Amino acid sequence: MDVGHVPWWRDAVVYQVYPRSFLDTNGDGIGDLPGIERRLDHLSWLGIDTVWISPFYRSPMADFGYDVSDYCDVDPLFGTLADADHLIAAAHQRGIRVLIDWVPNHTSDRHPWFIESRSSRSSAKRDWYHWRDGRGGAPPNNWRAAFGGPAWTLDDTTGLWFLHLFLAQQPDLNWSNPEVVDAMHQVLRFWLDRGIDGFRIDVVHCIGKDPVFPDQPAAMGEIDRVGIQNELVTHELIRGFRRLVDGYPGERTTVGEVNLGDLSSIGSFYGHGDELHLVFNFLPLYAPWTRAAWQDMIERVEREFPPGAWPTWVLSNHDVRRVRTRLGSEHAARAAAVISTTQRGTPFVYQGDELALEDAVVPERRRVDPGGRDGCRAPIPWEPDRSHGWPSAPWLPWPPHADTRNAASQRANPRSMLHLYRDLLAARRASPALRRGMVRLLDAPGDVLAYERVSGEDRRLVLVNFGEQAAHVPLAEHWQVEVASASQPDAGSLPPHAAALLRPSA
Ligand code: GLC
Ligand code: CA
Repeated sequence: MDVGHVPWWRDAVVYQVYPRSFLDTNGDGIGDLPGIERRLDHLSWLGIDTVWISPFYRSPMADFGYDVSDYCDVDPLFGTLADADHLIAAAHQRGIRVLIDWVPNHTSDRHPWFIESRSSRSSAKRDWYHWRDGRGGAPPNNWRAAFGGPAWTLDDTTGLWFLHLFLAQQPDLNWSNPEVVDAMHQVLRFWLDRGIDGFRIDVVHCIGKDPVFPDQPAAMGEIDRVGIQNELVTHELIRGFRRLVDGYPGERTTVGEVNLGDLSSIGSFYGHGDELHLVFNFLPLYAPWTRAAWQDMIERVEREFPPGAWPTWVLSNHDVRRVRTRLGSEHAARAAAVISTTQRGTPFVYQGDELALEDAVVPERRRVDPGGRDGCRAPIPWEPDRSHGWPSAPWLPWPPHADTRNAASQRANPRSMLHLYRDLLAARRASPALRRGMVRLLDAPGDVLAYERVSGEDRRLVLVNFGEQAAHVPLAEHWQVEVASASQPDAGSLPPHAAALLRPSA
């Protein structure tokens, strides 16, 4: 590697596509791969250079694609392998890189591996999953599954229990078996050979298990669990993924979903530059909208990540309430967009956040997700008319105000969230300080967060007012507003819940 060479994924802005809800093209109400291709221009126009596409593998859809029954094929709902190849090529033609979602912790219970594993105690793939004796008719230990109930299900065929940290239709693979490692490495190669640029790796912190399967202490929370996450063997397995991915030309990359509560544990998944290239930082998903909380997060990322670890910033995804819904106002969502795109680290934008979408209100009879996450997965409205650019009614209700909060209407309105995002991404692309510079927190009054980004001669200043009142921020004369989330701050006044990106005046 050249000295000073910066890998592309440090400069990237990643856009998450949740394919069921992006755009349908064949009228079955479910978004598909040709739908993604049809709207790639939206992403180019916005200034996105990388997409991560949530799973489109063959799947019984118990967890909407996160239950995979064939890692090397496309589910017919989403299209064909040829559609995937076509989409990858079309994205590359526009200079957009493609990350796909890889789900190593568990397969579907319909995957041939599991069907064989459960068939008998002596099956050749028996040890590919975790089978245990119960404790007098009760599960082997007290672990709970993510969507409720015990993490073990008794299988009648052989009278033993199998482990599933998520649904019973998602049995956990046994990664201590080298055959599992080999089979999964082949999956990685299958897609790398097709030209994808990397993987988002689903719940990668959970793949290694303590073979003792210890009970959880009663007082432990949902997130931090013993025997499951941050096991030494997990880091070893990740180093294996890293070597494989780094063996390909073109700086292929990995970004891991590491759902842990503290930044130093999250940071440990970078290893010594030999584990994940990027790790999701989910703290902003849970942070209250206060200066103290956001300043603390920025400081701690700088302090607690290992040297050389490149951070990420995530405001929403397909598992949590959208940022616009969480923060309660479009003003705050706009200010949050300024923060996440001006941090040191790669920003991830969840589809529809660029339109300031809110979660859909989903009536009970239309709820489909076992984890209660339908609201944030509502379809993207592309046009103002009633069908919003979809050929028929989509699988979930529209998000609120789709007649104005849609791509076409916002593109026509320079004051829209869509234009704000576009301006922010353009400013980021043009400024080495924003892309790569160090971050320095500055003194500021009350509810105002202020920080500077600096790279050589290039500097940017960001001011964020978290308060309910306009804030007076004495601006030194040599700064001018480059992008503002609300009407331009005049004479050093920042409206409530507003943020501004400033550059030195010419
Ligand atoms: C991850 C995914 C989530 C899925 C779970 C099980 O957290 O983001 O959607 O339900 O893993 O695969
Ligand atoms: Ca479709």
